[in-house]
Amino acid sequence: MEFAQYAVVLLITLLFLVLSFKRRLNLPPSPWGLPLIGHLHLLGRMLHLSFQALSTKYGPIVFLRLGMVPAVVISSPELAKEVLKIQDANFASRPYLIMGEYNFYNFRDIGFVPYGDYWKRMRKLCATELFTVKRIESFQGVRTREMRGVLSELVNAADYQKPINMRHLLTTYVFNVVMQILMSKRFFEYGEHEAKMSSEAEDFKHIVFEITEQMLQFHISEFVPAFMRRIDWKIPEMKRIHARQDKFLQRILDDHKARLESETSQPIDFMDIMLQSLKSEGARGEESVKAIVTELLSGGDTSASLIEWTLLELMHNPLILQKAQEEIDTVVGKERLVAESDFDKLEYLQAIVKEAFRIHPPAPLLIHMSTEACKVAGYDIPKGTSTFVNGYAIGRDPAVWEDALQFKPERFLGNSIDVKGQDFELLPFGAGRRMCPGMSLGLKTAQLLLFNLIHSFDWSFVPGKGMDCYELKEQSGTVLWLETPLEVVVSSRLPKPI
Ligand code: HEM
Repeated sequence: MEFAQYAVVLLITLLFLVLSFKRRLNLPPSPWGLPLIGHLHLLGRMLHLSFQALSTKYGPIVFLRLGMVPAVVISSPELAKEVLKIQDANFASRPYLIMGEYNFYNFRDIGFVPYGDYWKRMRKLCATELFTVKRIESFQGVRTREMRGVLSELVNAADYQKPINMRHLLTTYVFNVVMQILMSKRFFEYGEHEAKMSSEAEDFKHIVFEITEQMLQFHISEFVPAFMRRIDWKIPEMKRIHARQDKFLQRILDDHKARLESETSQPIDFMDIMLQSLKSEGARGEESVKAIVTELLSGGDTSASLIEWTLLELMHNPLILQKAQEEIDTVVGKERLVAESDFDKLEYLQAIVKEAFRIHPPAPLLIHMSTEACKVAGYDIPKGTSTFVNGYAIGRDPAVWEDALQFKPERFLGNSIDVKGQDFELLPFGAGRRMCPGMSLGLKTAQLLLFNLIHSFDWSFVPGKGMDCYELKEQSGTVLWLETPLEVVVSSRLPKPI
């Protein structure tokens, strides 16, 4: 037979397999797919937008084949509840993502790890040693110091009406906070003192950013059977990133080990605690420490993204900004900064944060996987189906939210809808067993800086770079960044010195 004949026979066989698979199972609605690639050709650079378009056409549950991997997209609060709460245990696993193998030490982290004993053990370690109320409170001083650093940089810029790249300041703030909590290290100063930065630390900060950027990019290995994964042409690049990541982390880890080995030394940060807990596991234990530290650092980017989007919305909606400033003036006054103990009294500001999460969720897709075959909404879901809950689409669905595309914090006043995983129309941190364990830390870190930025300054766009340069432009990756980093000009509102 000629090559063309072989190809036709192969295509017909594949088509037959796909159709007989469909006949046997009552799968959710699905667009017409192509042999081999399935529905990959329907997906663009920003997965959450492609999925949103598909759910507008096919409904709140859509079945897809991503290469050879079955997938469903969920886009309604009711079905999100079904997957994340009612059938939580069955959907608590994660599909294979190549970053887990190459940047998280062959799945030694928490977020990429399949549901099972290792995941339970590591998650428990973080829950009891890092994310307790007491531990998060104990780092209040670190957050406050870093917040003051950002404010004083902005006060200097205000004096000269100098344009400021907020993305840079915000990511530095979050990185400094999380680095100190995890490893007692502080590498960066703000603004004028940037020359003091360690170039190695700058490289590492960039690596963490590159890793989060890579997560939702196209990787062939994620759409083929396990034995074919080595064909992925991005593997060499990932190995190169990993070598830099490992060199940096190993040096810090060795310092920690040396200090812990001296008899009098007590654990002072999370890296110490992890090293002690996993000591008996030798090199594997150390890999867990490095993988988890990288992941927790990349978790911080979500807080920076939230602040950047919120500032953009407030600059676009000056009346909302004014109302927020009035609330702080009433509750806190102009003689001091906002403290974490004020948060509960700042009802309108809390509503602003919820509204920002609704319309710009920093992590737009919750990515899970079914461990066993099951039914959702009466449809068959095969075992091992990648399950994407599209929090972004739910947050902007006009059937769920009135004036869904407008930024209206008032919608959250006088009701109890919250971001804590109980209200399935608002899921910025996910829900169920895989829900974000860093929620409380992430919220406190973001709110402390955001509220003080609102309190301390009036905000304007850089001339010639107004709202139309930013609106609705988003960047792909696991963190939903503004496509263009936000640049601002600020004027101080508070009497100096703050
Ligand atoms: C505004 C801040 C944050 C947002 C919006 C956010 C959002 C999320 C979301 C949506 C998930 C996936 C949930 C799911 O699959 O259902 C997640 C998982 C995770 N987040 Fe966060 N996060 C934030 C801050 C943080 C911080 C500060 C840390 C740690 C320092 C962190 C650590 C993690 C980890 C370890 C996971 C994986 C959990 C698992 O798979 O069991 N996050 N986060």
